[in-house]
Amino acid sequence: MNVFDAIQARYSVRSYKMQDVEEEKLLRLFEAARLAPSANNRQEWRFVVVKDAVTRQQLMHAAREQEFVGQAPVIVACCAVTDNHVMTCGQPCYPIDVSIAIDHITLQAVEEGLGTCWIGAFYEDRVKKILGIPHVVRVVELLTVGYPADEGLPKNRLPLNTIVMRERWK
Ligand SMILES: Cc1cc2nc3c(=O)[nH]c(=O)nc-3n(C[C@H](O)[C@H](O)[C@H](O)COP(=O)(O)O)c2cc1C
Repeated sequence: MNVFDAIQARYSVRSYKMQDVEEEKLLRLFEAARLAPSANNRQEWRFVVVKDAVTRQQLMHAAREQEFVGQAPVIVACCAVTDNHVMTCGQPCYPIDVSIAIDHITLQAVEEGLGTCWIGAFYEDRVKKILGIPHVVRVVELLTVGYPADEGLPKNRLPLNTIVMRERWK
């Protein structure tokens, strides 16, 4: 599968088969993350992989009761060990770097026949408590992973000519 095919095929999977995700597939997802670029090659990302059913239920509650979160066979807490470095452009590194790594995971997941969903609707303090994540570590996103039991809808996106400008802001 080429990259563009994977980009087109990826969608937010919100229903999962009751099927375990093979360890070698999971490792390839994290290898894809490991190879992601990051500011100054800081590699601040850390991933907590959760398969335990009780813990997944707790995370579902921390994610505003989104039921499919608990139903997914794997939940990944995508974290940053960070000194909160801000780039010259004014943007903090860590949410950008962790997000790039997550996107690598979501695209490699398509190649593996897996589905994912980014989860930003969660209470960080509760997730940290459930997973024993130190206070100084940030939880940037949760990511559900598993075999899809639903199908993607047509993509609802702005047209290219709205988002791309040539030479000047117009
Ligand atoms: C940063 C981020 C946070 C998101 N948080 C949630 C979430 O908490 N729950 C959810 O169901 N979807 C969540 N999504 C998925 C988006 O709703 C979805 O990507 C968007 O509607 C486009 O649909 P698609 O991913 O199927 O192309 C999130 C996506 C991103 C990138």
